[in-house]
Amino acid sequence: MKSDIKDPSLAKEGMLRIEWASREMPVLNLIRERFAREKPLKGVCLAACLHITTETANLAYTLKEGGADLVLCASNPLSTQDDAAAAMVEEYGIPVYAIKGEDNETYYKHINAALDYSPRITMDDGADLVSIIHKDRPELIGNIIGGTEETTTGCIRLRSMAQEGKLLYPIITVNDADTKHFFDNRYGTGQSTVDGITRATNILWAGKKVVICGYGWCGRGVAMRARGMGSHIIVTEVEPIRALEAIMDGYSVMPIAEAAKVGDIFITLSGDIHVLDSAHFSSMKDGAIVANSGHFNVEINIPALEKMAKSKRPLRPYIDEYTLPDGRRIILLGEGRLINLAAAEGHPASVMDMSFANQALCVEYMVKGRKSEPGVYPVPKDIDREVGRLKLASMGISIDTLTEEQTKYLESWEEGT
Ligand code: ADE
Repeated sequence: MKSDIKDPSLAKEGMLRIEWASREMPVLNLIRERFAREKPLKGVCLAACLHITTETANLAYTLKEGGADLVLCASNPLSTQDDAAAAMVEEYGIPVYAIKGEDNETYYKHINAALDYSPRITMDDGADLVSIIHKDRPELIGNIIGGTEETTTGCIRLRSMAQEGKLLYPIITVNDADTKHFFDNRYGTGQSTVDGITRATNILWAGKKVVICGYGWCGRGVAMRARGMGSHIIVTEVEPIRALEAIMDGYSVMPIAEAAKVGDIFITLSGDIHVLDSAHFSSMKDGAIVANSGHFNVEINIPALEKMAKSKRPLRPYIDEYTLPDGRRIILLGEGRLINLAAAEGHPASVMDMSFANQALCVEYMVKGRKSEPGVYPVPKDIDREVGRLKLASMGISIDTLTEEQTKYLESWEEGT
């Protein structure tokens, strides 16, 4: 089997960590048991461009048990867990193209290697498979049934493709499921971003001024967790309603030009380009830490920082110190790549359980031929609710059901006070 991974001898270690993650993934485990019996994906070639982690390994195993012929490649050059990649290749027999720290050229070579399998289903985290297929390899489209997309940035890209009439097959936006973004984006990004910055720097969060650039679900999660550690939170936003929410959640809100002068730690999660730019570096305090937890490494203008700095030195893993001509130092974490996966392990398995349960069930839905017209589709409500129901059941939590009288009341429009 062809693959490109760092070191196959890491497989045993990877397998133990995959099993550890599996303990926190009861919903995916249930789906895997059913898939193993029913083989709903039998013979379907599936290319997945995801962060290569122990949680992804559990998803990959589930899809394989469902009968899929699977190939994986990384969705970010710095997020791969090399031991998980090795275990997938050596223990599950799944081809994987991913090496932590690969350069951009290798990253795209790996995506193309996965596409060489001529997939019938694509699974993306950031829409790179879809983008390369449409730009460079349109001959593959005729064979494709559909795809899924894991993250907000990917969904935005796909919607803009669809709007321009350029998207040529159906895609389900897993990110839009309530059981995905309410939990993975908020609690997952919240915890793992604080974890990544802590592992990289060992800073004390208490008393720090933390600037959160972007108050979507991810920004909310990080703000909430950093506040829990005793930080003072400043939010920057461009959407008035989100800014209002941040104010009423108890945070300060101000333009980034002002926040730049006072922040100790800056975290970008906006999905947009150059949220931190040269003008902001120019006014930051000596020792300001800048990190990104958005999907792409474009939120911090690193080329501008490189140009402004008179010197740069690595201080410890995932820390580069840039010294500006006036002597102030700006600390960049994880080369501006998503810090939660670069310096830590990404979201904990318990939230990935729901995200990846949605992925597995949406692939099954696609293979059953439920969507055929090109376009962007939400996760079917039944799937979303089933994932929520199973997760609650796995936690041993039961909830109420409406009485007949209550159902009738909700359905009637005549009854008032
Ligand atoms: N995205 C964020 N965290 C992740 C994880 N642990 N595995 C796969 N994708 C992720």
